[in-house]
Amino acid sequence: MFKLNENYLKLPGSYLFSTIGKKVSAYSAAHPDKKIIRLGIGDVTQPLAPAIIEALHRAVDEMGHAETFHGYAPDLGYDFLRNAIAENDYKARGCDISPDEIFVSDGAKCDSSNIQEIFGLDNKIAVCDPVYPVYVDSNVMAGRTGTYDRNTETWSDVIYMPCTAANGFAPELPKETPDLIYLCFPNNPTGAAVTKEQLQEWVDYANKNGSVIIYDAAYEAYISEADVPHSIYECQGARECAIELRSFSKNAGFTGVRLGFTVIPKELKCGEVALHGLWARRHGTKYNGAPYIVQRAGEAVYSEAGKEQLKEQVAYYMNNASYIYNGLKEAGFTVSGGVNAPYIWLQTPKGMTSWEFFDYLLENVNVVGTPGSGFGPSGEGYFRLTAFGSYENTVEAVDRIKGIRL
Ligand SMILES: Cc1ncc(COP(=O)(O)O)c(C=O)c1O
Repeated sequence: MFKLNENYLKLPGSYLFSTIGKKVSAYSAAHPDKKIIRLGIGDVTQPLAPAIIEALHRAVDEMGHAETFHGYAPDLGYDFLRNAIAENDYKARGCDISPDEIFVSDGAKCDSSNIQEIFGLDNKIAVCDPVYPVYVDSNVMAGRTGTYDRNTETWSDVIYMPCTAANGFAPELPKETPDLIYLCFPNNPTGAAVTKEQLQEWVDYANKNGSVIIYDAAYEAYISEADVPHSIYECQGARECAIELRSFSKNAGFTGVRLGFTVIPKELKCGEVALHGLWARRHGTKYNGAPYIVQRAGEAVYSEAGKEQLKEQVAYYMNNASYIYNGLKEAGFTVSGGVNAPYIWLQTPKGMTSWEFFDYLLENVNVVGTPGSGFGPSGEGYFRLTAFGSYENTVEAVDRIKGIRL
């Protein structure tokens, strides 16, 4: 008789966004006349920029001719894209990353959940609390997190690093030393960012303790403040301790196109073994490369026209972010985020729980956000709104929330 991976049975409830989806569908089925505004899931709404559409068309045409047809892509990515990434995302920022340290993939969700595979099951992970749920759940599936406590909503073998108003939503160095440290800045869900000096402390800590930092920089394009690093490799010593994850979803609207990459510098080693080689082996065995068409679209992100158009797209979302931030602040809410990230993190009013506020907004003003508690226990009493909606919907949602009388 076959056996299950019993670790899957330990996962509590369904994935956060499925729960939200079900609640919204039920409400919408019962009230078909209501216009629901969705500022919950972090999905983009603006169309792909013209430079990207042109690149996609060109690549599709190439696929229609024997002379320019492309079959399997190289599993680590085409050189044209790896070179463009190394040049624009790293060299231009003074970071020493070579094209062959870049592993092209179909997105940061897969990479952030798969990366744990190259580490032993006896590694202890540390995560921010609240956190993007994928880091924890992928470790649960692997059997690395111990037992779940339903009361505290925590795992026995995970080190939680609370991110609260008291620490500016930036974690403090943990007392117990972790082996793997997941950091995401600018942060989902809180919208917080850390300065280069703060990130340097983490790099120094990891190098001192022999830990690896898995640094998710999916929201790098939204950074507006000069002292906030765009890459962990801006810090001294990061080549020895850090893996960086990037996505084309948020900077270029590729959520439905699918493209991302992981950087593993060759100096990052466990004894004599380079993690670079392990991840290359993993990629070669389990992944057949991101599509040629999509990688050409990715290359267009770095063209002069692409950069210009995407700067405008990011500015469009950040204009929404400041509309939400300022509107809710004026209305008396305690808000943060929205300056270096497309997320606004607000305290729920009148001591409501995160889910109570979710239900209240859905039922009273037909606005969907994300309950903070879905991201971890320290998210209780908070609520996340995204700036990824259209400007018109964002304005209407904020106006509706401003009108509530609790
Ligand atoms: C922190 C973080 N990492 C990764 C992802 C997923 O990115 P991708 O679309 O490249 O899979 C998200 C998506 O919301 C995210 O918030």
